[in-house]
Amino acid sequence: MRACIVYSSCTGNTRKVAEAMSEASGVPCYAVRNAPAPQDYDLLAVGFWVRKGLPDARAQRYIQGLENKNVFCFGTLGAWPQSEHALNCLRSAEALLEEGGNTVLDSFLCQGKVNPQVVAASQRKGTHPMSAARQERLQEAARHPDENDLQTASQRWLRCLTAVHTALHP
Ligand SMILES: Cc1cc2nc3c(=O)[nH]c(=O)nc-3n(C[C@H](O)[C@H](O)[C@H](O)COP(=O)(O)O)c2cc1C
Repeated sequence: MRACIVYSSCTGNTRKVAEAMSEASGVPCYAVRNAPAPQDYDLLAVGFWVRKGLPDARAQRYIQGLENKNVFCFGTLGAWPQSEHALNCLRSAEALLEEGGNTVLDSFLCQGKVNPQVVAASQRKGTHPMSAARQERLQEAARHPDENDLQTASQRWLRCLTAVHTALHP
């Protein structure tokens, strides 16, 4: 069985998750710009960072090139991972994948530190006024992805690997 992990990451949070999954499984991981052609793979893990409620543009372009693949979809974002916003982000990523006839076996999102320069810029523009709730969320995001996130992502990826392996070699 052939599997690989492909991720897009701007500030390193999603890369950290991808690398932990790679280490736990022995499956190679690639930044999306170096991703091998997907045709030869039975299972792909596709990682993205959330930008304006959607997978980032590079990840979206990669997803658009995938057809009829088994996929584990993962990502990082600044919002609370159980929030409606996070759920909508995940649903959007899954919908993009499913448009290409891909099967999403599982999906996982965790928080990732938001670039402080981006936070400062949005303060200056007034797009996201700072509130106590926002500050608390950003402080928590700054601690992620943490060990627990890395373990959870790895476990769920290992489960997908086992499921596809079992389906191919019953
Ligand atoms: C331009 C920009 C837009 C973002 N938009 C969102 C968003 O809509 N929702 C969210 O929860 N986080 C958002 N974030 C936070 C990132 O998704 C988060 O910090 C992520 O972990 C970055 O991953 P990376 O380090 O792999 O690049 C945004 C960050 C940037 C820089």
